[in-house]
Amino acid sequence: MGIKTKDLLGLKNISKEEIELILNTAESMEEIIYRDVKKLPTLRGKSVVSLFYEPSTRTRSSFELAGKYLGADTMNMGVSSSSVKKGETLIDTGRTLDAMGIDMVVIRHPAAGAPKLLGENIKARVINAGDGYHEHPTQALLDMYTMRKKFGELQGLTVAIIGDILHSRVVRSNIWGLTKMGAEVIVCGPPTLLPADIAATGVRVVTSFEDALRDADVIMMLRIQLERQQKGLFPSKREYAKMYGLNKETLSLAKKDAMVMHPGPINRGVEISPEVYESVQSVIDEQVTAGVAVRMALLYLMMGSDFEDEKASS
Ligand code: CP
Repeated sequence: MGIKTKDLLGLKNISKEEIELILNTAESMEEIIYRDVKKLPTLRGKSVVSLFYEPSTRTRSSFELAGKYLGADTMNMGVSSSSVKKGETLIDTGRTLDAMGIDMVVIRHPAAGAPKLLGENIKARVINAGDGYHEHPTQALLDMYTMRKKFGELQGLTVAIIGDILHSRVVRSNIWGLTKMGAEVIVCGPPTLLPADIAATGVRVVTSFEDALRDADVIMMLRIQLERQQKGLFPSKREYAKMYGLNKETLSLAKKDAMVMHPGPINRGVEISPEVYESVQSVIDEQVTAGVAVRMALLYLMMGSDFEDEKASS
């Protein structure tokens, strides 16, 4: 069994079994990251192009490393120095890459639906690395991988996702993924940053920060996405930090072993304090490592075969 659809566009439309397969495969992949020689021939001869219309550190680098660790040829197409700047459309850019014989495109785009449009128009497989406010499926997969690693299973966990729910694609993918896997999701934030219809996705909406913290096994803080906001959704960063910031005092309201997550990049001292970032409850660096393992798993499941044989003989 592999990933059933040609493209990975989000977690809303993939099955629990497919999510389990990805997380189980990532478990086998993680060990490779700690090897001295991080190189398998599994995807030799396959080519992966990163096409990022928005900035990224974690997602783009980890896809590139994941591909290299598995022996694929990886190329980052610098959108700002490409013919996109001369007005070339997304479809024509994709067709051009397709004509070069590539196997996979990893795309990040400010418009929701751009990865779907691309996938419908090219032969290469497509992975969504974040589209508008819609989905960021590989982020949610690495988040679930990190939670499963600590708690053993996702079923029965209570995950409080706190902050800028309105502008977050990370929250949407986590909601679809976590609820499918049997976890309870609480969303919490200033009323102006909570979409009106969010309860319809099956989450519990909590406006009190303290209540959300008290119930949570996992506290996932979200970045305030200042680049996507109009003014006036909250008074100031200082006041936001006072009401919804995770610091030593507010973290003390949560369970002693509650796990603290953040997808990054962080606004230090706004949604999370530096001391909480550095605390033993924080798994933010582990999330980054999980990102490489999960992306290796996806590249393998969507392009490769015979991984276990090659790993054993390497
Ligand atoms: N979490 C995440 O998507 O980070 P980047 O924007 O750095 O890829």
